[in-house]
Amino acid sequence: MKPPVRVAITGAAGQIGYNLLFRIAAGDMLGNDQPIILHLLDIAAAQHILNGVVMELHDCAFPLLMDIVTTDDPLIAFTDIDIAILVGARPRAKGMERKDLLSANAEIFSIQGKALNQAANRNVKVLVVGNPANTNAYITLKNAPDLPIKCFSAMLRLDHNRALSQIALKLGQPVSKIKKMIIWGNHSSTQFPDLSHAEIDGKKILSLIEDQSWVEAYFIPTVQNRGTAIIEARGSSSAASAANAIINHIQDWCFDTKKDDWVTMGIPSDGSYDIPEGVIYGFPATCQAGTYHIVQGLEINNIAKLKMFATYQELLEEKNAIKHLLPRQ
Ligand code: NAI
Repeated sequence: MKPPVRVAITGAAGQIGYNLLFRIAAGDMLGNDQPIILHLLDIAAAQHILNGVVMELHDCAFPLLMDIVTTDDPLIAFTDIDIAILVGARPRAKGMERKDLLSANAEIFSIQGKALNQAANRNVKVLVVGNPANTNAYITLKNAPDLPIKCFSAMLRLDHNRALSQIALKLGQPVSKIKKMIIWGNHSSTQFPDLSHAEIDGKKILSLIEDQSWVEAYFIPTVQNRGTAIIEARGSSSAASAANAIINHIQDWCFDTKKDDWVTMGIPSDGSYDIPEGVIYGFPATCQAGTYHIVQGLEINNIAKLKMFATYQELLEEKNAIKHLLPRQ
C-alpha cells in the first residue's frame, strides 16, 4: 500500500468543502489506490458544522481515508502536508468596499502563508481558490519565502472548463475533443477567454465557428460572467463545479497534462508574454513530473495583447491595494 498523502483543505465547513471532501476521500483526485489523510481547517465558529461533515465522512466508510485532522489552527492544519487547497476566505459583506475585502483576505492569507512556510512539506502543492484568488495566492507566496515559488497556484480551471463547455455546446462536439483553450489573467470578469489557439482534431475552432460576433458578444462575456449568472440562478455561488475544477487542477499538476494539450493555471509570471514577473496570472500551462511550465511561443495579436494587459492592470491594482501588508517586496 502506498504511504498516505496529506491534503489540507481550508474553509472545509463551507459549500465548496461539502462538494469537495467526499470526492477527494473517494479517490477522484489522486486515484483509487492512494490513501489519504484529510487536514480540515475552518474558523472556531464553524467547528460544529465541520464536526457534522466529519461524521458524514466517517459514515461513507471510504477505504482510502486513513485519518482526519480538524482544527482552527493553520499551523496544525498545514503540518507535513503534501497538498494545500485554500478555499476559506472572507466573503464580501454588504457595504464592504473592495479594498476592505482585499485587506481582510490579505490578513487570512498572510497567516496561512506563514504557517505553510513553517509546517508544510517543502514540495507542497498549494492551490488558492478563495477570492480574489490570484491576489490571495500572491499574498500566500510572499509570506512563505522558504518554499519554492513553483509550489503556488491560483484557480482558473473553472473558467477554463466553462469555456470548453460553451464551445462543446456551440459545435455539438464532446468536451474531450477541444484542446488548447486559454483563460488569460485574473479570475474575475476582466479575464480574457482566448479561443485563437483552441483546436478540434487539429482544426482551429475559430475557423469552425466562423462567427467573430458570437465570440465577442456571447462566448467571452458568458465565460467572464458565469459566476454571477450562477449566483443569480441558484441563490448561492458555484460550489460543485468549483470542487470539480479543484480536482482537475490538482490531478493535472500531480499526474501531468495530456499530450498535445494544456490547461489554464494561475501561476507566477516569469515575464512570459510581457506579463511582469511575479504576478499570479492565468497562463496556458503544461505539467510534467509534478512541475508546471508556462506554454511558450504562442503568437499573440494586438487585440489579444490589449485584453491581456487590461486584466493584468486589474491584478496590479489589487496588488497595490495590499502592498503595505506584504512582508517583503
Ligand atoms: P462558503 O462561505 O460556503 O465557505 C467558506 C468557508 O471558509 C466557511 O466555512 C468559513 O467559515 C471558512 N473560512 C472563513 N475564513 C476562514 C479562515 N480564516 N480560515 C479557514 N476557513 C475560513 O464559501 P464557498 O462557496 O465554499 O467559497 C469559498 C471561496 O471560494 C469564496 O471566496 C469564493 O468566492 C471562492 N470561489 C472561487 C472560485 C474560483 O474559481 N477560484 C470558484 C468558486 C468560489
